Amino acid sequence: MKTVKLTINPLDKRSKINKEIYSNFSEHLGRCIYDGIYVGKDSDIPNTDGYRNDVIEAFRDLELPVLRWPGGCFADEYHWKDGIGEVSSRGKVVNNWGHIVEDNSFGTHEFLRFCELVGCEPYISANVGSGSVRELMEWIEYITFDGFSPMGELRRKNGKEKPWKLKYLGIGNESWGCGGNMTPEYYCDLYKQYATFCRNYSGNELFKIACGPNADDYNWTEVCMKKIGPWNMNGLSMHYYTVPTGNWDHKGSSTDFDDKEYYSTLRSTLRMDELITRHSEIMNRYDPEHRVGLIVDEWGCWYDVEPDTHPSFLYQLSTMRDAIAAAINLNIFNKHSDRVYMANIAQAVNVLQSILLTEGNITVKTPTYHVFDLFKKHMDSTLIYSHIENELADDGVPALSQSASVNGNGDIVITAANCSLDKEYTVEIGGVSDINNADGRILTDEVHSRNTFESPDNVVIRPLEIKCENGKAYAILPPCSVAEIVLS
Ligand code: AHR
Repeated sequence: MKTVKLTINPLDKRSKINKEIYSNFSEHLGRCIYDGIYVGKDSDIPNTDGYRNDVIEAFRDLELPVLRWPGGCFADEYHWKDGIGEVSSRGKVVNNWGHIVEDNSFGTHEFLRFCELVGCEPYISANVGSGSVRELMEWIEYITFDGFSPMGELRRKNGKEKPWKLKYLGIGNESWGCGGNMTPEYYCDLYKQYATFCRNYSGNELFKIACGPNADDYNWTEVCMKKIGPWNMNGLSMHYYTVPTGNWDHKGSSTDFDDKEYYSTLRSTLRMDELITRHSEIMNRYDPEHRVGLIVDEWGCWYDVEPDTHPSFLYQLSTMRDAIAAAINLNIFNKHSDRVYMANIAQAVNVLQSILLTEGNITVKTPTYHVFDLFKKHMDSTLIYSHIENELADDGVPALSQSASVNGNGDIVITAANCSLDKEYTVEIGGVSDINNADGRILTDEVHSRNTFESPDNVVIRPLEIKCENGKAYAILPPCSVAEIVLS
């Protein structure tokens, strides 16, 4: 077994790792909202006001910071007034993305109540593609206005006396594609028009997020930074999905893959680093003070749908491969936390690289869920210098991935992944004057392992033994593992 040195320097403090990096995304697509989050009050599945209790609890345990809603592509077809008032009188509409009839029983009140139950901040993605400035203006008034106004009165009539707080507001989604197939120049003009009328009412302060690029569309970022500028937006989004084969028509199976496909998945994931670096370079030129956050509000592994499921439901299963990919991405976000303000994995439940899967009254935590658990101590801590002696596993993929931070108590948190499928490493942690006390947890299994409805605790976090000797800490990382190490 090879020993590799992991050097940290807690005196070399870098950027704050915003807790928002650990956020999630929920869309009216497939079984994410209906079935996944919301089953209705009359369901036999244990629920609170119609929300699955197991899902609420799982999100709470992760301390989920932000949940994005209602899309995705669905957002640019969503008309919020369809989803308020007496549920029985809400009209049905066609959901062109989920290919289901949307009965609007989960609307603004239901989403914001769910966020309250979970204890997370809502992030609303607004309709620019098929909506209007007035529609959005009224939505903000409905949600946040405390005084007398037509929308404030309508909210009261619908049973909510006091307004909610709403911080995160996305103005359009993928406006370069499903959100309207716009040019960046056209979108920027629209953004400014919409953003002007999104007012801060009753002490509420909006954090306005412009639709940013698709993966490597650097021109989109350039135009947004130039035309909108750092004073008229708080965030610029970016979407990038990991596709193992690089071919959107044949993305590969979520469960049936060989070593070659495993490493090509990781190579695709590692591209996130280059994308963020290059978009950041453009943003730095226009915004050297880092006023605008990069919001990676859709990321994750995207495979072919599970056989015999509806192609539009984007239902896939999740293995240890996804856990490794998630760890690589989260380490990348931590290391770029000077620019990456928020990231939202796609999606929360039953869609793409979801952290939870549901079937009937069973909810399964995927290996990706456990990775979020292992990383949660980074939330709102400060990134510090870390370096690991690395080597290549296969296909040009570095064997190890890591990041480190220090929290308010002075504890040092290290997250490390061993991406190799056949090599075990002893990680020797040094760089701090004296390490006497270390705790750890680890997620490790054969790469195809996953949690199923029959065996939901197949892949779980276990304690990691760490030896402290001569002021250094030693941890063994088996092949295909993700670890959390805390030095206190
Ligand atoms: O997450 C699934 C879809 O992927 C979203 O609706 C869209 O924004 C993206 O293309």
